[in-house]
Amino acid sequence: DLVREKLITTVARPAKKTKRKVTVVGCGQVGMAAVMAILSQNVSNEVCIIDANEKLVNGESKDMQHGSVFLRDATIVGNTDYKASEDSAVCVVTAGARQKPGQTRLDLLKTNLKILDQIIPQLVKYSPDMILVMVSNPCDILTHGAWVISGLPKERVIATGTHLDTARFRYFIGQRLGVAPSSVQGYIIGEHGDSSVAVWSSVNVGGIRFADLLKCVGSEGDTDQWGELHKKVVKAAYEVIAGKGYTNWAIGLTTASVVSTILDNKKEVVTVSTSAKDRQGIENDIFLSLPVVLGANGVVSYINLQLSESEQQNLCKSAEAIDKAIKSICG
Ligand code: LAC
Repeated sequence: DLVREKLITTVARPAKKTKRKVTVVGCGQVGMAAVMAILSQNVSNEVCIIDANEKLVNGESKDMQHGSVFLRDATIVGNTDYKASEDSAVCVVTAGARQKPGQTRLDLLKTNLKILDQIIPQLVKYSPDMILVMVSNPCDILTHGAWVISGLPKERVIATGTHLDTARFRYFIGQRLGVAPSSVQGYIIGEHGDSSVAVWSSVNVGGIRFADLLKCVGSEGDTDQWGELHKKVVKAAYEVIAGKGYTNWAIGLTTASVVSTILDNKKEVVTVSTSAKDRQGIENDIFLSLPVVLGANGVVSYINLQLSESEQQNLCKSAEAIDKAIKSICG
């Protein structure tokens, strides 16, 4: 290569790896939306895409590589072989079946549990120090399964969980008030699914708690009917699926947000799915979303919420629903 020889004098071997490598398993709509968000928001500039479908993973990774010049000269690889994922700081799993119109997230359990055995040990083999972020649904139960299969410490295995529901919640409240969603403080906890719980008792804007302005905000007797916004959160994915067949942009952005919190060791308080036994009055051995402090080591701490009586009951019901789904499959 004459031009290369004349142009470049190499004096040392280039580094093989960064400490910010992210692997995304599954290059469907969700996986690629996550990759796009991670790269275009400068969360990482080293991304590995893994998928069992060789043609698809080649096509998607090539298409993304061709945009490298607009993505901080990112390193993007696509492969069917998990060796390509070696030394990832974070591994994201989006592979699996997705909800069809009318299906709940829990309906996907049987199909998607099966694929964990093929994915998780491979990821652990090549990136034993990673933080594992599950996205596939039902994410709470799959995260529990992934943790068991992985043998990783509990704090290193999470799901995006209700970080997305929380984002939708803040958006809907912001829309109603004419306030930026980032200026709305509030959390959705519990199952990322139909039994999620809105923590109305702590929702506030500018430090002013809604519950101090309207005692029964979000629950029965709320003359303002704020509770409708939680219903909208629960219905959100169904509505998007009815329209376009799947959800991908908001979950892709949610995933990038979680990955960024980990890579930058932000210690941000986020509602992600984590081991919930003996936390917040939950006795079932299950995973669900609670507000945690998230950083480079994964879940560093739990925020101890002061839930109202009905919120506490609903959180326990959410835990029960997850427990029931696990028992219906695993006996
Ligand atoms: C959603 C899917 C990711 O809520 O569960 O959009």
